[in-house]
Amino acid sequence: MDRIRITGGQQLNGTIPISGAKNAALPLMIASLLTPDTITLKNVPNLADVSLLIRILRNHGVDTAVDGKRANGNGHQGDTLHLTARDIVDTTAPYDMVRRMRASFWVLGPLLAREHQARVSLPGGCAIGTRPVDLHLTGLQALGAEISLDGGYVVAKAPGGLRGGVVSFPKVSVGATHNVMMAATMAKGETVLENAACEPEVADVASCLNKMGAKIDGAGTHTITIQGVEELEGATHTVLPDRIETGTYAMAVGAAGGEVLLEGARADLLPSVLEVLRQAGLEVAETNRGLRVARNGAGLSAVNVTTEPFPGFPTDLQAQLMALMCRADGVSQIRETIFENRFMHVQELARLGADITVSGDMAKVRGVAALRGAEVMATDLRASVSLVIAGLMAEGETVVNRVYHLDRGFERLEEKLGSCGARIERLSS
Ligand code: EPZ
Repeated sequence: MDRIRITGGQQLNGTIPISGAKNAALPLMIASLLTPDTITLKNVPNLADVSLLIRILRNHGVDTAVDGKRANGNGHQGDTLHLTARDIVDTTAPYDMVRRMRASFWVLGPLLAREHQARVSLPGGCAIGTRPVDLHLTGLQALGAEISLDGGYVVAKAPGGLRGGVVSFPKVSVGATHNVMMAATMAKGETVLENAACEPEVADVASCLNKMGAKIDGAGTHTITIQGVEELEGATHTVLPDRIETGTYAMAVGAAGGEVLLEGARADLLPSVLEVLRQAGLEVAETNRGLRVARNGAGLSAVNVTTEPFPGFPTDLQAQLMALMCRADGVSQIRETIFENRFMHVQELARLGADITVSGDMAKVRGVAALRGAEVMATDLRASVSLVIAGLMAEGETVVNRVYHLDRGFERLEEKLGSCGARIERLSS
């Protein structure tokens, strides 16, 4: 297993290109199941999760191709992926695949819409919480799906096809919104999703589905209306920039100091995060090439944050902000309301000398004068990158173990940080 070694104390100066959003690329790839035609996705990040989903989709019969290097490419534009589900040859998504990537559970809606049946393994729990799928199932039932559970699998059938309905989600769920929205594109009649997730990735997927011939209105708000169509066709779509990667590198600059252009980043994708970072003492400016983030000389101020669905502060940046607050002036209160077990980074940050106490869903971070490097590891993607951020401001060497978590969601992390002056290297075992 690879590890990453960081020697702290170096400022970051330069340009970091922001990749396409993992959490849009995955459902966009899954949307290819809805049509026999080819879906071409541009700006797809080169990540372990994308490779795994390619394998999962192939198992359903999807042909996949990735464009090779192009003469005018600068190597930072992401991959172009062609996905063609001419015939769905298998409507089962096996446990061994779904357990490794929860988002693959979202094949349920598209398979049901196109093949009128699917057998998809329940994903099980994961490091950040229990993560049930009840909202996905009740949503699909509202569209007429008959659902039963058999040996750890969801068995779903819609013999005459799905029909439109009203789905009022009791809680905002990104995944359930993707799943039911994709299913509803080919249901008979109108579907209304109330209390839908309005994350930018949902709007991005809806925009691709509309290019494929779907009739979706209101994606990006809490009410999405879908008029079912008979069939969908091929389309070409460019994945939007990754707001979580953007926020992560902005916090890395906050941690290390310096000035970095986050190339291709869009301020409208993370309004609450940028506000929090400004409160913390960072300078953030929009330019026509992306976002320029700087912390020159000034110290960090403590901020209080509660994670919320979009447009609130995202749970996927909670760990990174906590790392930053470890060196802030004062006490920062960070409340996690989306996942019940997303504080695993706390004990690892403590190994670097952080002063954090957790009580229920609240973490109190008392800023300390210095962090000191140590060997650490984390059990999920965002927690792992929070340790990289802490390592950038720690004295001496920090070694982050279990780098495969980072490879799931951060493309060329050490190269991007290294090119701006960070002393960071991958130690291959
Ligand atoms: C998506 O997960 C993201 N994953 C997560 O990013 C992100 O943390 C999360 O949304 C919240 O923003 C992808 O987009 C691939 P949810 P998802 O359904 O869809 C509860 C990362 O690091 N819930 O919005 O699985 C659930 O337990 C990952 O990139 C139910 O109760 O999250 C949670 O408390 C991690 N029943 C809340 O809703 C359900 O049926 C929000 O979860 C579904 C969810």
